Amino acid sequence: MTIESSDLIDSRYAQLMGSDRIVKLAEQTQAFFAKERGPEELARLFAVFRVGEHHAVITIGDWLKSTPELDVKDGFARLVWDEARHTRIWTQRMVELVGEHAVERHYPDPTGVSGPSTEYFRLWDEYAKADSLPKRLAYIYVVDAWAGFAYTAYLNHIDPVTKWHLQTILGDERFHVAFGQKMAERYCTSPQDRELLAREEEKIVTILSNVTDGFVSSEV
Ligand SMILES: [Fe+2]
Ligand SMILES: [Fe+2]
Repeated sequence: MTIESSDLIDSRYAQLMGSDRIVKLAEQTQAFFAKERGPEELARLFAVFRVGEHHAVITIGDWLKSTPELDVKDGFARLVWDEARHTRIWTQRMVELVGEHAVERHYPDPTGVSGPSTEYFRLWDEYAKADSLPKRLAYIYVVDAWAGFAYTAYLNHIDPVTKWHLQTILGDERFHVAFGQKMAERYCTSPQDRELLAREEEKIVTILSNVTDGFVSSEV
């Protein structure tokens, strides 16, 4: 199955971003993922993916204690487990590509990697600073919709083994987006909360546009 730009443009992230921005993003991501990459370059790319997955583990784990709503806490616990699994999947693919020794040597820390733009790390710093339920849920459904968008674009360009793993990850990310939105509908109902959600969505989309620009112009 080939993913067309039009499939991406109809995605959930597209609805959040608006049609002008999404057309540009679809072109950018397709061009980025179409690059030829050898095993070392792929390992570095997967290390970049892994940074995001692992920051989600740490940050959402931090949120558990200050989340009194039991069904949100429950969902966060699943997200922590899912993101930890995604971290493990990328690590495993890196090991298969370049060997355990090289991964230990070049990628000892799943929270860091050289290469991506400072905006990429700013995204995870801002994510960790979200201090209220509306902000947290907005991070979950916007960032995971973006990750789902990027991962979907990547499906066209990868080997069958990575593709199989990626489809598992994508299924989870879709669940995370739906979970974030459902909880926002349930708990963020006051005008102030709706306003906070909208403002945070806009802020995150802007950061993500900068992150995407950074990727496209980087060596990753
Ligand atoms: Fe993930
Ligand atoms: Fe996720």
